[in-house]
Amino acid sequence: MPDLDVLFKPYRLNALKLPNRAVMAPMTRSMSPGGVPTAEVAGYYRRRAENGVGLIITEGTGIGRPAALNEPDMPRFHGEAALAGWKKVVDEVHAAGGRIAPQLVHVGHKLSNAVPDWTPPAPYESPSGLSVTGEHVSRPMSDADVADTIDAFARAAVDAERLGFDGIELMGAHGYLINQFFYDHLNLRTDEYGGSTLVERSRFVVEILKAIRSVVTPGFPVILRLSQWKPKDFNARLAETPKALEQWLAVLVDAGADAFHLSQPKFWRAAFPEIDGELNLAGWAKKLTGVTAITVGSVGLSGDVYESFAGKSARATSLDGLLARLERGEFDLIAVGRALLQDPAWLEKVRQGRANQIADFAPAAFATLS
Ligand SMILES: Cc1cc2nc3c(=O)[nH]c(=O)nc-3n(C[C@H](O)[C@H](O)[C@H](O)COP(=O)(O)O)c2cc1C
Repeated sequence: MPDLDVLFKPYRLNALKLPNRAVMAPMTRSMSPGGVPTAEVAGYYRRRAENGVGLIITEGTGIGRPAALNEPDMPRFHGEAALAGWKKVVDEVHAAGGRIAPQLVHVGHKLSNAVPDWTPPAPYESPSGLSVTGEHVSRPMSDADVADTIDAFARAAVDAERLGFDGIELMGAHGYLINQFFYDHLNLRTDEYGGSTLVERSRFVVEILKAIRSVVTPGFPVILRLSQWKPKDFNARLAETPKALEQWLAVLVDAGADAFHLSQPKFWRAAFPEIDGELNLAGWAKKLTGVTAITVGSVGLSGDVYESFAGKSARATSLDGLLARLERGEFDLIAVGRALLQDPAWLEKVRQGRANQIADFAPAAFATLS
């Protein structure tokens, strides 16, 4: 049986010292009225810090573009009121001994499942205006839009460091704007942000990473979240081979990514099973680049997040398989979503061997900020 201690070994992410390998996964809660994080939101994150979570990655929070978000109560990361709300979150997390990084997001053309009829103050925007089914649902971004969006990510990174955040995560996964640029059926641009290869279509995030690196201090961690599947097709792969993955990630490391957060619904699923039956996407990222890799996906739970969104419960499960992978060095950090959403003391219960006090996951937890 793997030793639990492996989860509680310190780690250094760029200049940031982490006391253990547990990361809270970014989870949109949409409980910040008008985009301003409240005292309840601060308390929600503080409780995870009090219970020893090594690094909290916040819910997706919108950069300073009029159509960056698709729900009214998702938190903004621009403007005095929202940033003052975030400052209280940072201060409470730090007072409890924790570390926290905002997940910076622009949704692109992706509509919200929860409030599909809500519209932002300006039309949705995306690389070529197309939805995943090829409809013209949004405005193709002009050169000026692209330039200002890159700048808006950099402005958010500056604000994050100024407010005292311990790093940032860029949302490059799950069909949001940065991710939309990667796909040949969504990005038909003929300028330097389009192209026939994944590396060419990564220019947008490369420019964002470079812009951020030029305005934050060198030790400030910049994490990039990526996923392989296509919106509406979980079996598809953006990088079809390890070679393609290597070429893709190499340009992102060169541009300034300190860490990759490789999103998959179940961490135990092999990324290239035809080559290696075990290694997951984080494992491949680490093997190919050597930079910090964060895994995620049904940690401590029997069913994945999409099943939970559909209303199914998930059983609390053993961490042995995950810890064995961590011990082997497959990845460096472990992000935990639903288990930590439901129970702020999840990690502390794991540490103290109180597995019998960890409940199964019930979707009712989505409704509260406990
Ligand atoms: C309520 C909820 C909201 C989420 N919102 C985000 C988000 O804003 N950004 C993101 O990258 N992932 C988001 N996710 C995905 C999680 O970060 C994580 O990858 C997923 O839940 C799998 O981890 P888990 O199985 O431990 O829950 C969300 C998940 C949940 C449950």
